[in-house]
Amino acid sequence: MWESDAGLLLRVDKDKMPRHVAIIMDGNGRWANGRGLIRSAGHTAGVKTLKNILKTAVNLKLESLTVYAFSTENWKRPLSEVDFLMHLFSDYLRREMLEMHQNNVRIKFLGRTEDFSPALQNLIRQSVALMKDNTGVKFNIAADYGGRDEIVRAAQKLARRVQNGELAPENISEELFDDALDTGGQPPVDLLIRTSGDLRVSNFLLWQAAYAEFWFTDTPWPAFTPEEFVDALVAFGKRNRRFGALN
Ligand code: FPP
Repeated sequence: MWESDAGLLLRVDKDKMPRHVAIIMDGNGRWANGRGLIRSAGHTAGVKTLKNILKTAVNLKLESLTVYAFSTENWKRPLSEVDFLMHLFSDYLRREMLEMHQNNVRIKFLGRTEDFSPALQNLIRQSVALMKDNTGVKFNIAADYGGRDEIVRAAQKLARRVQNGELAPENISEELFDDALDTGGQPPVDLLIRTSGDLRVSNFLLWQAAYAEFWFTDTPWPAFTPEEFVDALVAFGKRNRRFGALN
């Protein structure tokens, strides 16, 4: 077990834990600008936050944690920032994959990733292969990810099966569609956290978050702490989830 604050973990009622938490890690740039730093310093600080939140998720035995690292729209940022983020992802995997593996984390990447550099794609393949048999937290990194793009790719997969004669169109069910998504086999998102004040979903896990509870904070991602993560989990435990039915 990664070192952690036992008192903090005790605040969470295990029976009211979400199975799948997704996080929009927003506000790196604003955090840096507010300190007179360049935006990349915010992304570097954001990696530290991510490490701390993953540790907490491991210690709480969360089933799935999904983080939004790079959207299909993020390619529109200046080349220097895109390059910086790509190096940051590579460094992160190189430095952290062994420790993640020792903590029984199973890493997965959601999104396209084929436009990443061959070196980064190699690290992605290596880290996935290293952790493929692990049984702890399913840690999904959404990279070159868009929710609509994921849904279109899932539809294409199913269409190919129909074309091959393996599947009849009327047999396409919600379950089959869910399985064809990048998160296939994982539970739907129970809790979606967004940092840094904006109140939108930004094309993240559109299908999986159909019944998610939302939790927003003004704290920018680099300043987000395990304490605040636990605040979100405790708040989730108090929500009355009806899934469209009556109490
Ligand atoms: C949003 O902040 C953040 C991103 C687009 C990148 C997220 C990346 C990290 C947190 C780095 C760590 C990730 C991994 C997987 C190692 P923003 O740049 O949009 O901030 P702003 O809205 O204040 O400009």
